Amino acid sequence: MKKYNVAIVGATGAVGQTMLKILEERNFPVKRILPLASSRSNGHVVEFRGEKIKVQEAVPSAFEGIDIALFSAGKSVSMKLASEAVKRGAIVIDNSNAFRMDPEVPLVIPEVNPDHIKKHRGIIANPNCSTTQMVMALKPIYDAVKIRRVVVSTYQAVSGTGINAVEELKQQLKMILNGENPKPEVYPYPIAFNVLPHIDIFDDTGYSLEEWKMVNETRKIMDDDTLAITATTVRVPVMNCHSESVNIETKDKLTVNMAREILSKAPGIKVMDEPQLKKYPLPGDVSGSDEVFVGRIREDFSVNNGLNLWIVADNLRKGAALNAVQIAENMSNNALV
Ligand code: A2P
Repeated sequence: MKKYNVAIVGATGAVGQTMLKILEERNFPVKRILPLASSRSNGHVVEFRGEKIKVQEAVPSAFEGIDIALFSAGKSVSMKLASEAVKRGAIVIDNSNAFRMDPEVPLVIPEVNPDHIKKHRGIIANPNCSTTQMVMALKPIYDAVKIRRVVVSTYQAVSGTGINAVEELKQQLKMILNGENPKPEVYPYPIAFNVLPHIDIFDDTGYSLEEWKMVNETRKIMDDDTLAITATTVRVPVMNCHSESVNIETKDKLTVNMAREILSKAPGIKVMDEPQLKKYPLPGDVSGSDEVFVGRIREDFSVNNGLNLWIVADNLRKGAALNAVQIAENMSNNALV
């Protein structure tokens, strides 16, 4: 089996660490792993397959001889270094929003639109975490009865912002319980004991960039520019796993039982929907899982063909690192790299 030289850009971060773990767990055919980060991480080591490996600075020459570069260091790093990696012969799988809406860059969820991978010109984009878990559940329904409109509200964990945000939440929880008044640094307001209807920057429409990502990326992945979709994205004081309340209007009628059946057969989805037994997906339970969990499946009686879903997934795994590794696996299995 062919083995690959794999670079992880952002290897010291929340997603980068998860990428290392997932490559190891899934036994991805790695010949050499190259952990890259900023110069701040000079001297740091990461673990891969029981070995301690020195982190190197992410500079263009680092990509010499690399076959696959998984980027998870944010948009500015991707803008600066993805083309340098491609120039040196690497395939880039990018977790930032630098290229997602570029018409020449496929935006891929392997269970949903694997065929888009082939069209790549060196860079393949990983969707935004909140988009991925929603589209995983929407696609099988869309294929069965078409979807006209989607209304989504998210409850997003702090791990999606990065390691600093996780530390900030822990710190603030302690401080507030001690009667102190924490000064927020990562978010505009304290996140502990709070709910912030603000993820990424706002534009003139009053929507946040995170909300537009959900709208535009969903349409691109599902290949349907006519899909009506509106989003409200919210940060909550949860360490890991995003939750979403999703309301859909389908073109043809889909009963709750049919929806359950379709979703339970869909790849990467786990239906957990026995509310009478208090069984529904919870971020605390889902953390560490690869599947996207769907529960609270019920009819929306206020419209003709309406359904409500509650969707929870590990944003660091399926929402980021796992999806990127699955793209690499697809390429390896189909001799595309
Ligand atoms: P570093 O630890 O050296 O700052 P998170 O999303 O958890 O905050 O992690 C962000 C990741 O992106 C970290 O690995 C961080 O490395 C990396 N990173 C941030 N800025 C740069 C940069 N300019 N060049 C390379 N990696 C960077």
